[in-house]
Amino acid sequence: MRIYIDSANIEDITRIIAKFPVDGVTTNPSLLAREKNNPLEQLKKIKGVLEEQMELHAQVLSQNAEDMISEAEYMHAQLGKETFIKIPVTHEGIKAMKYLNKSGVNITATAIYTPMQAVMAAKAGAKWTAPYVNRLDMIGANGVQVAIDIHNILTKMNVKTELLAASFKNVEQILKLAEVGVGSVTVAPELLEQLLYHPLTDKAVADFTNDFESITAKGTTMRHL
Ligand code: E4P
Repeated sequence: MRIYIDSANIEDITRIIAKFPVDGVTTNPSLLAREKNNPLEQLKKIKGVLEEQMELHAQVLSQNAEDMISEAEYMHAQLGKETFIKIPVTHEGIKAMKYLNKSGVNITATAIYTPMQAVMAAKAGAKWTAPYVNRLDMIGANGVQVAIDIHNILTKMNVKTELLAASFKNVEQILKLAEVGVGSVTVAPELLEQLLYHPLTDKAVADFTNDFESITAKGTTMRHL
């Protein structure tokens, strides 16, 4: 499973990259707004802390296809390769995807709430499709099931398009997708850090340390012996 950091905060991104095996960063205009910096400059800063091969996903703000295309081309030129341009699955967005796919711009179809929207994005050439799992749960739908349905449909369509599930609020939502072999998720830093949490793991480490130190001294490791 590919895991992305859903954040535009440099400190969070740097901390997570240093310790976890992640594949890139996804942003959206709301996340960028929280950083109170010029959004394009912030994206360049993020790009600067990514390791080689890590992807950066950034969204266009234009509403009509022609403007989306020129904005996407501008962002691609400014941010370089390994950048994926996020485009919402509106009529104008699908129209822009069709064109951008032919001109070699990497596309992430975003703001997806139904499998049919993902099918259309796949047909238009998007590499990633991003359904919003928790936002679906919040309106009484089943976000995990929608993501699984999209994953299954894309697999059957035999296209290059894959699922990049987004908008998570708990570990269970992510685990359910891992169980069915979903390819990618993007997760906020605070939830990413919860993925490893179990109190008995911390207790096990503490117990092992205490036992070891009972025959050595506090702070002793194998390197001290
Ligand atoms: C990613 O593409 C989305 O913008 C993001 O995951 C939405 O997450 P939220 O529902 O927590 O805002």
